[in-house]
Amino acid sequence: MTKYIFSQLVLNWYHKNGRKDLPWQKNKTLYTVWISEIMLQQTTVKSVIPYFKKFISSFPNIKSLNNSQLDDILYLWSGLGYYNRAKNIYKSAQIIKNEYKGIFPDQFLDVIKLPGIGRSTAGAILSLSLNFNYPILDGNVKRILIRYYGIVGFLKDFRIEKKLWNIIELITPIHNTGKFNQGMMDIGSSICISKNPACKICPLNRKCIAYIEQKWEKYPLKTIKKNSPKKKSWFIIIKFKNNFWLEKNTDKDIWKNLFYFPKFNDKKTALIWLKEKKININKCENMISFSHKFSHFILHIYPIIIKLNKVPKFFKEKSTSIWYNLKNPQHIGLPQPVQKILEIFKKDIS
Ligand code: ADE
Repeated sequence: MTKYIFSQLVLNWYHKNGRKDLPWQKNKTLYTVWISEIMLQQTTVKSVIPYFKKFISSFPNIKSLNNSQLDDILYLWSGLGYYNRAKNIYKSAQIIKNEYKGIFPDQFLDVIKLPGIGRSTAGAILSLSLNFNYPILDGNVKRILIRYYGIVGFLKDFRIEKKLWNIIELITPIHNTGKFNQGMMDIGSSICISKNPACKICPLNRKCIAYIEQKWEKYPLKTIKKNSPKKKSWFIIIKFKNNFWLEKNTDKDIWKNLFYFPKFNDKKTALIWLKEKKININKCENMISFSHKFSHFILHIYPIIIKLNKVPKFFKEKSTSIWYNLKNPQHIGLPQPVQKILEIFKKDIS
């Protein structure tokens, strides 16, 4: 009985209020839904829309992606963050080419094996594109269930996670699974939001424990947030006409394979590097420092600018270091703080 009531309420709501014309909901294929679901991991619909459109116009189908380079994908991902997702798309494309004859698999056990795809994303891809009967359990769905059933616990507790999977398996309808799943995500992101949920207009409020108790704050329990650790980085911006010296990051950090300005953890090392390259430190200009917030830390960036009239012989292009041309940019991945700095220079390019 609960199954019928819960899913029917969600489906009725979806029918009237759900989102039906997001870019990835038109001309749906397994491929386009896959790209959108990877982009939507940890990222809002609003931020994803322009990236999705750009990605699909460059790579309209899996075949086009089969011949891509990682740099091409990172280029389209620049600014969206969590670059591992782009690398997983690249790796998946290789697997699909070699193991699935270039066709995106439609079997759950094959889909879930692809890098970057867990149980919920596999369920989302198959249910939203083909209406296959698989449940999803992303952050939005978890919050709805915890509040509706009055489950006391922390989101990251694996026992809670297990309980929620059991519940969502039971209440996901056999028919219209795709619409139900989309409806749950839409309710979770527009009504049953983390803070100050709009319970009055929620289709599930009649039996929702959190609403009956008038205690949405209790569901789920909140972990005490530690202050984000702070890190510092000195960026050396070497400019020659409209070109900027960028190096490919080979460190295993969040920016692996992206191009960045030579970066240093302290000013002294940055100045030693400049001296080694025979650059006159007195000609350096300091740009206003700024902070960039990552999910686990805050990076404070100190840009140092050097404008060259002549290129010292050290600065020879290789596959891992380039003169990035602002007027005619190469297709490479750039982290957001690098893009931010380049944007400033874009205003006065000749
Ligand atoms: N988050 C993850 N997938 C989503 C989708 N298809 N629609 C809205 N938000 C989402």
